[in-house]
Amino acid sequence: MSQPPSAPPARRFSRRKFLGLSALTGVGSIAGVSAYAHLLEPEQLSITEKDIQLPNLPDDLDGIRIAQLTDFHYKPEDHKVLADAVASINQITPDIIFLTGDYVDEPSNLAELVSHFEKLHAPYGIYACIGNHDHWKGAPRVLGKALRSVGVRILVNEGTVRRIRDTPVYILATDSIWAGKPDLDKCYANHNGEPVIALVHEPDYFDEFTSKYPLDLQLSGHTHGGQCRIPLVDVAPFSVPYGRNYVYGEFPHPTQQNARLFVSRGLGTTAIRVRFACPPELAVLTLRKS
Ligand SMILES: [Fe+2]
Repeated sequence: MSQPPSAPPARRFSRRKFLGLSALTGVGSIAGVSAYAHLLEPEQLSITEKDIQLPNLPDDLDGIRIAQLTDFHYKPEDHKVLADAVASINQITPDIIFLTGDYVDEPSNLAELVSHFEKLHAPYGIYACIGNHDHWKGAPRVLGKALRSVGVRILVNEGTVRRIRDTPVYILATDSIWAGKPDLDKCYANHNGEPVIALVHEPDYFDEFTSKYPLDLQLSGHTHGGQCRIPLVDVAPFSVPYGRNYVYGEFPHPTQQNARLFVSRGLGTTAIRVRFACPPELAVLTLRKS
């Protein structure tokens, strides 16, 4: 009796091979995500267009559009994203532009940064506040001179009245909360009942605007939106001091019913140049009388 032909030996997929392949795939995925987060996303400008409801807004100001840029941490490799943001603003033609701090990490990059700002235009001007990095690494006095040289009005613990569509608006800016000496009494020294837009680099200071300091809108940055977020659940695993309660987006004030905060993701990066699920942002906000 002839023996049946023996079956070919089963191809064994050993644990070692499985782990080896998994490791290669994992390494490949990590390398791919890392390359994307380092090389691509920091250059992909996103434009957030959003209505902000402000019940105390005077009728004449209903519909004014403001553009906010923040947290540049400008380096030459950020040229493209900033140039895109400036071109977009000039195409959108907002009424007024606000810059909310952290301009450069190295003073040597300041001249190139302001050469971008020089191209910005808005009929009611460009106003700026100062950030923590501007105290630590950017030399505030040099920064102020450079910004003023291209028509940006920088305010530090100061407020000023700006007439927009012939209606007065009070624009104030604090010093950096983390690295400076914020003083709301000084900020409100010239206030006489006008609607208030406050530029405050660090968002968590929002809660300090008690009833003594009437507020309509605070604009902030500082958090970079977390810089890297977990997709699907949209959570930022890392946070920074003074940016833990309000990381990204629009928030109501805890006690002043009519006041709002908007925190932008900003344009740049600190430490490692990575962004993931948190692209650079130009915020264009239309103020609405609700
Ligand atoms: Fe920053």
